[in-house]
Amino acid sequence: MNFDIKAYLKLRKAWVDKALEGIFSPASDPKPLFDAMRYSLEAGGKRIRPILMMAAYETFQEDGRDILTFACAMEMIHTYSLIHDDLPAMDNDDLRRGKPTCHKVFGDAMAILAGDGLLTEAFNIISDDTRTGKWPPDIRLSVVHELASGAGVGGMVGGQAMDILSEHKEVGIDTVKFIHTHKTGALIRAAVRIGAILAAATDVDLGTLTRYGESIGTAFQIVDDILDIEGDTETLGKAAGADDKLEKATYPHVVGLKASKNEAKSLIQTAKTALEPFGERAIPLKGIADLILERNT
Ligand code: IPE
Ligand code: IPE
Ligand code: MG
Ligand code: MG
Ligand code: MG
Repeated sequence: MNFDIKAYLKLRKAWVDKALEGIFSPASDPKPLFDAMRYSLEAGGKRIRPILMMAAYETFQEDGRDILTFACAMEMIHTYSLIHDDLPAMDNDDLRRGKPTCHKVFGDAMAILAGDGLLTEAFNIISDDTRTGKWPPDIRLSVVHELASGAGVGGMVGGQAMDILSEHKEVGIDTVKFIHTHKTGALIRAAVRIGAILAAATDVDLGTLTRYGESIGTAFQIVDDILDIEGDTETLGKAAGADDKLEKATYPHVVGLKASKNEAKSLIQTAKTALEPFGERAIPLKGIADLILERNT
């Protein structure tokens, strides 16, 4: 079967971009808060988490557009994590998605509140009957739980805390694995699981996709660390070399570049092998796994 992964991603990114544009009205008050949220949300980005959610859903169901509200909620939480990650008190970055960071444009206070707003509104839209009322209540509740677990202290926030606590320290591989599985892996795992839950996947299939999500999630952050060393600022749309400046606990710092590349490769292979039971239905998910390894942005 001839499958064009680039076209697959492009189409779904366009669905997500359009749906995100409709979330916040430009006319809402306070204007700087809404401007800040829309600035970061509409600045671009690969939209890999919402696309993964739709690809997991489409492993069992026809049309990923069925779950666009949930996909937008995921991207809103991810965007909030980036706004806060870039703050002076955290990674102190000036460039994100090829543009000045949210706090550079709107100030620290508005950037903090824009992040808070995006996080909270994500849960607002998925619990809003007018948007998702057609879904069974137990399924909606499971999605809320997945999203909260992936984003919260046992997931992304916990990983971000460990990342900050490990700056300027010589930590071991176990700490780096903790950071990567939590700060990045947890939300990617949740994206895949939510797609499967909304598709009413069996427990066995959910387990299979969870293993896929965990492997690509960790690989995604290892590749992010590698790109911080080997990538360039222009292509990345964020400053290269930022990790070294803060002496971050990255994979390459702890095990070296070569071992990091091998680990990313092996995790992607593990992810693709896990998908074998799905046969041709998993072609898009396999394509996304390959791209995570090969990406330069
Ligand atoms: C950047 O995520 C932060 C990490 C978790 C590595 P992405 O690489 O998905 O960033 P965007 O959304 O495409 O800008
Ligand atoms: C951040 O990791 C992961 C998040 C949860 C936002 P990084 O700090 O490495 O992400 P970038 O490199 O700034 O995108
Ligand atoms: Mg960071
Ligand atoms: Mg950062
Ligand atoms: Mg990084």
